[in-house]
Amino acid sequence: GEPTSQNITAVEHRVTTDARWQANGHRSGVLWLTGLSGAGKSTLALELEQALFRKGWQAYVLDGDNIRFGLSADLGFAPEDRAENIRRVGEVAALFARAGVLVITAFISPYREDRDRARAVAPDLFHEVYVKADLEVCETRDPKGLYKKARKGEIAEFTGISAPYESPVSPELEIDTGALSLAESIERLLGYVEANFGMN
Ligand code: PPS
Repeated sequence: GEPTSQNITAVEHRVTTDARWQANGHRSGVLWLTGLSGAGKSTLALELEQALFRKGWQAYVLDGDNIRFGLSADLGFAPEDRAENIRRVGEVAALFARAGVLVITAFISPYREDRDRARAVAPDLFHEVYVKADLEVCETRDPKGLYKKARKGEIAEFTGISAPYESPVSPELEIDTGALSLAESIERLLGYVEANFGMN
């Protein structure tokens, strides 16, 4: 959207993103993971971050739960709160990416419109990754016991139960964690990252 402030002028960096890529030996961007709670977003994001760090890459995870302790501590889970959460994360992710970091975001980001707005901040750098698992699978895993609570009516607007999840229409990558093992999922992600962010 348009900024509310007036009398503002953008400055141009002297260090280009391309120069940072040359220095780092890899490209940067935003790997935007989206999927249900329990689909495996955080697990995949953290495994990928570690694997890339071991290769000497600049990679950093922004995770839903963590961001909600700080940057988005004032927000809940109503649609307009999720929209604002994803707006902030989209902006921060784009800043990291312009700074040369491969950002891996792990947010449910259930609304297509919110994800599309995050993409629009840095369309040249944005890669949507659908971390796919059926609700049934996620509910069986229930790592935090949240589905159980939601079924009992103890969590309002819980994604998949009492709030919607709009699956991606044409994501750059889809990882079916219901069908693949963790190792296979990571292998696919790493392959994608090397093909799209590697320099040679
Ligand atoms: S969103 O929709 O993208 O703004 O959500 P996100 O910032 O990723 O936060 C999701 C995590 O918050 C916990 N939680 C809930 N999720 C969905 N719906 C409701 N009502 C809710 N309340 C709390 C939950 O632990 C989510 O974490 P993950 O890692 O996805 O399981």
